[in-house]
Amino acid sequence: MSEAGSLIEKLRRTRSLTVDEYERLIRMRTPELAKALAAAANEERNAVYGKKIYLRGLIEISSYCKNDCLYCGIRRSNADCARYRLTAEDILSCAEEGYGLGIRTFVLQGGEDAYFTDDVLCPIIAEIKSRYPDCAVTLSLGERSAQSFQRLFEAGADRYLLRHETADAAHYAMLHPPALSYENRMRCLKTLREIGYQVGCGFMVGSPFQTARHLAEDLKFVETFRPDMCGIGPFLPHRNTPFANEPAGSAELTCYLLSILRLMQPNLLLPATTALGTAVGDGREQGILAGANVVMPNLSPVSVRKKYELYDNKICTGEESAQCRMCLERRMRSIGFEIVTDRGDVKII
Ligand code: SAM
Ligand code: FES
Repeated sequence: MSEAGSLIEKLRRTRSLTVDEYERLIRMRTPELAKALAAAANEERNAVYGKKIYLRGLIEISSYCKNDCLYCGIRRSNADCARYRLTAEDILSCAEEGYGLGIRTFVLQGGEDAYFTDDVLCPIIAEIKSRYPDCAVTLSLGERSAQSFQRLFEAGADRYLLRHETADAAHYAMLHPPALSYENRMRCLKTLREIGYQVGCGFMVGSPFQTARHLAEDLKFVETFRPDMCGIGPFLPHRNTPFANEPAGSAELTCYLLSILRLMQPNLLLPATTALGTAVGDGREQGILAGANVVMPNLSPVSVRKKYELYDNKICTGEESAQCRMCLERRMRSIGFEIVTDRGDVKII
């Protein structure tokens, strides 16, 4: 058997490779190897989730952020970013519309906005859960204290998405200002897990200074942390950031990594992200065909969508929620998959 063939075989059999082996697998990629990995990943995904695709309705609650991540379009130093925050009523009406569109998971995402204290967030979360007891609430609001994570959980939040961004501390420091640390990010992930959240981590593909070794370390981190979800998407430059002139990450490498993640953890909830759909027109379809099983239609009010611009040319900023929902339905059908009305919890296998 070829070296690549035996690595894939080992990954499927043991769900694990060494960091060196992950790095080799990344470095030796060819279109043929990507095809073989995707075929194996599809088998594994189909065995756990069938051809069902879960929806996560994304509600972008605030473009204010106290952080200054070097890659991010809503970083605080971007004076051109139009800032907004949704009211509780806005958020509830996004959820109402999403519920009518068959969405059973609402993701409240935003910059780290001091306005959204626990006292503001808890009643919103509790209200969503009381109106829609059959729905899950996912938070993606960055780093908070352990007490805050606990309070939000007690208010009814089910899941928390906090990408680790990179599993290499030195690389982390190249992407973030000194006020943010790899250690704190990791501490938050651990705390979220201990509290009882279903936890998602994740990373950007092709972020500045990233090497195949870094990606191999990311894979090893996911393998050992065993999250319920893992969000990966290509890095895409934003014109008003220090990384404006850095090259974008590739859709093809993102898909390759999606396949590896699926083989590593067959029940992982893996979104084909908006960034992947922005990088190439059929990126979300390609992501699903590489082994992903989640898509994230945007439920934010159209009036604010352009203001939550993490990277240039973000898709779905002019469409109404119903249009995104229908667009995704059509896209998934065209490749033989079916969107389902389901909370889409992780399947225990
Ligand atoms: N503030 C929260 C946090 O830090 O986790 C949630 C919002 S943050 C904007 C969500 C994710 O967007 C980040 O984890 C990052 O991976 C991704 N992101 C930010 N800028 C990006 C860019 N230029 N290209 C691709 N993804 C980006
Ligand atoms: Fe938003 Fe296609 S998913 S327009």
